Amino acid sequence: VGGGPVRWVQRSEVPADARFFGLGGRAAGPRLRDGVYGLWNTDPGGRFGPGDDPLSLTMPVQVVVSDAGTHLMFHDNSWAGRVVLREGEEGAGSGHDRPGACEVRMEGGPLRCWVVAGTPARVLQGWTALTGAPALPPSWALGPQHARWGFGNEEEVRRVVDGYRERGLPLSVLHLDIDHYDAHRVFTVDRARFPALPTLAKELREDGVRLVSIVDPAVKAEPGDAVFDAGAAVGERGAYVRDARGRVVVGEVWPGASVYPDFTDPLVRDWWGSLYEERLAQGFSGVWHDMNEPVSFAAFGDPSLPRSARHALEGVGGDHREAHNVYALAMARAGYEGLLRFRPEERPFLFSRSGWAGMQRYGGTWSGDVSTGWPGLRASLSLVVGLGLCGVPYSGPDVGGFDGFPSPELYLRWFQLGAYLPLFRTHAAIDAGRREPWEFGPEVLEHARAALVERERLRPYFVTLSQVARMTGAPYVRPMWWGAPGDRALRECEDAFLLGDALLVAPVLEAGTRRRAVRLPRGRWYDTATGRAYEGPGRVQVDAPLSRVPVLARAGAVIPVRGADGGPELEVWAPAPGCTGGGLVVRDPGDGWAEAAVERYVTRWEGDRVVVERDGAEGG
Ligand code: GLC
Repeated sequence: VGGGPVRWVQRSEVPADARFFGLGGRAAGPRLRDGVYGLWNTDPGGRFGPGDDPLSLTMPVQVVVSDAGTHLMFHDNSWAGRVVLREGEEGAGSGHDRPGACEVRMEGGPLRCWVVAGTPARVLQGWTALTGAPALPPSWALGPQHARWGFGNEEEVRRVVDGYRERGLPLSVLHLDIDHYDAHRVFTVDRARFPALPTLAKELREDGVRLVSIVDPAVKAEPGDAVFDAGAAVGERGAYVRDARGRVVVGEVWPGASVYPDFTDPLVRDWWGSLYEERLAQGFSGVWHDMNEPVSFAAFGDPSLPRSARHALEGVGGDHREAHNVYALAMARAGYEGLLRFRPEERPFLFSRSGWAGMQRYGGTWSGDVSTGWPGLRASLSLVVGLGLCGVPYSGPDVGGFDGFPSPELYLRWFQLGAYLPLFRTHAAIDAGRREPWEFGPEVLEHARAALVERERLRPYFVTLSQVARMTGAPYVRPMWWGAPGDRALRECEDAFLLGDALLVAPVLEAGTRRRAVRLPRGRWYDTATGRAYEGPGRVQVDAPLSRVPVLARAGAVIPVRGADGGPELEVWAPAPGCTGGGLVVRDPGDGWAEAAVERYVTRWEGDRVVVERDGAEGG
């Protein structure tokens, strides 16, 4: 972090065996090794890889896992700062362990610190009790999504959607980026290239495809522009951030010279939220918040607002050093409340590049401009795992990477990983190569099809996981140590994850891999492709042909899936001999607010049969 003077430092020691996770979205994780991690939401400027820090979504939230237990530490302070981590070292039985250490260095604000301790599940439950339950995405947002900066016009949108349809590939959502705006101005449409957006949206919707719109916070600084003028008329001083001398701050974003709504002012949020009525009228079903670190392009230095810029901060008043990190959080609140106001019967769908602790109340996030390459693929998994531990369970990367041209193999491996992440969306920059599954040759298309079909088959499981996240704070995507924080080998395992209680996903993160090692937690695990059983804990070799990535199911698991006829089915894996198992099922309650009933199933052996019973149900 560019670094103003540090006002206070808090140093904690942790056991030599402790490992650090979290701090929001970090490209170099999920295990956070020795280093300095900035607390200042930052647009990496085009693309990022594992070496870039900080990124768009930082949080002073760290999860520490050691033999002694798991805890989460939250510094409730939005100021700029940095966290210095040093892992400990064990003295190999000599009795001279060097403890690990964590220093939080803040440039201002209070030392107000919360600690939540317990099992990982208990910690996330406590954390989301403190900062809010994750918003429940509508079920359609758990299906496959496709985006691109630069579709350019309506014909191209139809061509892409038809491309999915003609090949029998499922598609749930299509995203329109800034190129559908009129001259990059937020809350407008380029009518020459999108002459009838509401009609397009309606027709796509009848075909099962929703439209989602990008929404950037910066407003073109031009009197006469309808949005600009409306913002200037909000309250007594207008909606836009001003400098210490009272002049409106002008930055530079896609539309050119731009001004920034001060979302830390409730009046401004209210006005901003009212603008979402226009998006709904255009036929969009949800929004994608971007550039909200916030960004002002700069050739050097911090690409954001000046630190001396003034903010309302809910009436308390303060400057950008304190408001910066919560700018996107407040924007998310404005957007969520706006959508809710105009479409109260449906759950809002919103995801945002930047944010802060508690943003999960309003929506999810995505990994931003991850660079196309194998390191970017790895970084994109790191972000999802870390954010989940910080209470933001719904996220995912730009499948295929944001920039450049992925090789067919890289694209496919990214696609296969994305199919098991909550937000499953291909996206790329305007000058990047294609990302449609059919652009990489017939072999990739067939394997991508299998990933899409499997994702749709697992949709009921994703719906259940979204409900579990809402009820308990447990993320869909969990680190391998989730159920066994005392297993040191699992703490080191960064190339696989647990998807809910039932599945272990071992993506391929390197070129040329056709077989890989998988570290298993305790218990029996079945390779879902071959049915072969493995006993954990331990490390096993499993096949990872180009056609799929290894997915293992926990013995005894009950997984809700979509049957061949489209109806619900249970996929059940036999418990280990002498053991029992089970699982939760929460059925899709639709896109409204209906309470979903939680069904609990148990599995057990009865002679040579596996019996599955609904817990608490009459007659089993
Ligand atoms: C930012 C976003 C990217 C988007 C682009 C244009 O770089 O991260 O997803 O495509 O802006 O809006």
